[in-house]
Amino acid sequence: MSWPLPTTPEITSPVSGVGGGDQATHHHSSHPHDPRKDVMSTGSPGQHAERGSDSQPHVPVLLDRVLELLEPVAGGAGAVLVDATVGLGGHTEALLSRHPELQMIAIDRDPAALAHSERRLAAHRDRVRLVHGVYDTLPQVLSAAGVERVDGVLFDLGVSSMQLDDDERGFAYSRDTALDMRMDPTRGRSAADVVNDYSAADLARVLREYGEERFARRIADAIVRERRSTPVTSSARLAELVRQAVPAATRRTGGNPAKRTFQALRIEVNDELGVLERALPAAVTALRVGGRLVVLAYQSLEDRIVKRTFAAGAAVTAPAGLPVVPEHAQPQLRLLTRGAEQASEAEIAANPRAASVRLRAAERIRDAA
Ligand SMILES: C[S@@+](CC[C@H](N)C(=O)[O-])C[C@H]1O[C@@H](n2cnc3c(N)ncnc32)[C@H](O)[C@@H]1O
Repeated sequence: MSWPLPTTPEITSPVSGVGGGDQATHHHSSHPHDPRKDVMSTGSPGQHAERGSDSQPHVPVLLDRVLELLEPVAGGAGAVLVDATVGLGGHTEALLSRHPELQMIAIDRDPAALAHSERRLAAHRDRVRLVHGVYDTLPQVLSAAGVERVDGVLFDLGVSSMQLDDDERGFAYSRDTALDMRMDPTRGRSAADVVNDYSAADLARVLREYGEERFARRIADAIVRERRSTPVTSSARLAELVRQAVPAATRRTGGNPAKRTFQALRIEVNDELGVLERALPAAVTALRVGGRLVVLAYQSLEDRIVKRTFAAGAAVTAPAGLPVVPEHAQPQLRLLTRGAEQASEAEIAANPRAASVRLRAAERIRDAA
């Protein structure tokens, strides 16, 4: 069987006979070559650090822990993992290097990320299938690949360093860029569309719910006043409007006051919470019994969804006090992490992006009744 990398980042060839996989563990020590060293040693250029942009080396977050959690499911014959957010390909590359039999389905909604990963993963081209799409289409992606169940699914949520660093993409509030923020610039409305077209009430709701912004209504009103004369199309103009709209005392504390507004717009533009709410249950359904789900979240709204989904899956659904819990009410998940795990201080010092990460992992222990 071969999975040639598609020349365009779309599903190109149906794959059959993949899936399942045994649970044999595959110990890192059995490989003389440790791929983690390649990916993590990003300190000096010229080593194997993959560059997410010209200025920032790309370091996958919590790589060692992700590899450890997926170790028991990635090494078996016929093992298939899904990387739902392949991004710059860091986690996927490390997994493929470490497990010579492993096959991966790697999804991203950003065509630029897929193009980057296609180059980075060229050495493993026959074991990875790159798919352009939103990860809540996982069931369709798997059925197009002829895969019924998988051994693991990894989500590394949010934006990549490449997206953040590229001024054309408009994610930055600290530099003056066009207000876009679409992870897939080929479709959907941009942040400028949201800012210039939404009613003040809708804008305020987005800022309050997705930015947890206390001054949502004041900021929304300021935007609406401004756009009557001039559409708001640049990140610097928006950041300045936010700065002027919030009370002077709050400008002096808590970092850039535009941060929450930009987070809210990004979530709205990409429907980030909606797709995650749909994707996590779909990922659990796709796991074989014994399969593992690992999620890295970078902001509390996303982590709350992960926590809630995991807790629901790990709970007994029968009323308390039954002498015997019926099979259909038994939990489908076993939590592999206690609470959320964070990056070490050393990792945060080497890679500031790791500062906000919250990792949760679970194992599927039962099929749905
Ligand atoms: C933090 S980066 C992943 C980095 C990756 N783990 C690595 O090691 O290079 C997140 C990636 O997920 C993608 N992404 C975010 N939300 C997505 C969604 N709903 N569907 C598909 N891809 C998504 C983004 O485009 C971005 O490339």
